Amino acid sequence: MIFLNHKMNLTLDEVNNYIEALKNYKEKIIVLPTALYAKEFINSGYKVGLQNIYYEEKGMYTGEISPYQAFQLGASYVLIGHYERRSIFGENNEMVNKKIKSALKNKLKVVLCVGDNDDNNDFLTRQIKECLKDVQESVIIAYEPIYAIGTGIIPKIEDIQNKVNYIKSLTNSKVLYGGSINAHNIDELKTIKNLDGFLIGKASIDAQEVIKILEVASK
Ligand code: 13P
Repeated sequence: MIFLNHKMNLTLDEVNNYIEALKNYKEKIIVLPTALYAKEFINSGYKVGLQNIYYEEKGMYTGEISPYQAFQLGASYVLIGHYERRSIFGENNEMVNKKIKSALKNKLKVVLCVGDNDDNNDFLTRQIKECLKDVQESVIIAYEPIYAIGTGIIPKIEDIQNKVNYIKSLTNSKVLYGGSINAHNIDELKTIKNLDGFLIGKASIDAQEVIKILEVASK
């Protein structure tokens, strides 16, 4: 599973070019565009997720999108608890937990983002336990080490392997890795065992880079 997190990038013209450029790769990717352009991708037959939703069904929440609205739009996935949501917009594990429950209730598949900064698993354990409190359905977990997001730095492969193994020992979730993935390091990253896919940020904005990544990943 390869998820492409555009974050707050691409204009409408760029989105249209991107849709055209990746049309032969649609089956291999799940695009997480800015919500404004989700429909463009959906109408062109892409699998789409939103980058965020709010947990309430409707009401006085200026600027927010409800899980049902996302579902009705045709989104199949939603990213919840991304590090940028936590660090810039103040989301905590409790809010993430509410969002997960609300998304699942509205038939969205959840990609829960977690991440830490070191080998100690305490922080990660707390994040996973609190975010998944009373959640019965399975979710996908994206492990994104904080220091690897947008920095060009990736951890040692064995360190990622240990985290993937650890997360799998706690949950029955599929696990993705995210953080500074590009066409050069995907070769190494794909050697991680029991990893179910990737969550790609910056490199996903460039359709040609995505094609290169997909070609290496599928070898
Ligand atoms: P980068 O690939 O830009 O490091 O971003 C990772 C990420 O946050 C994906 O959700």
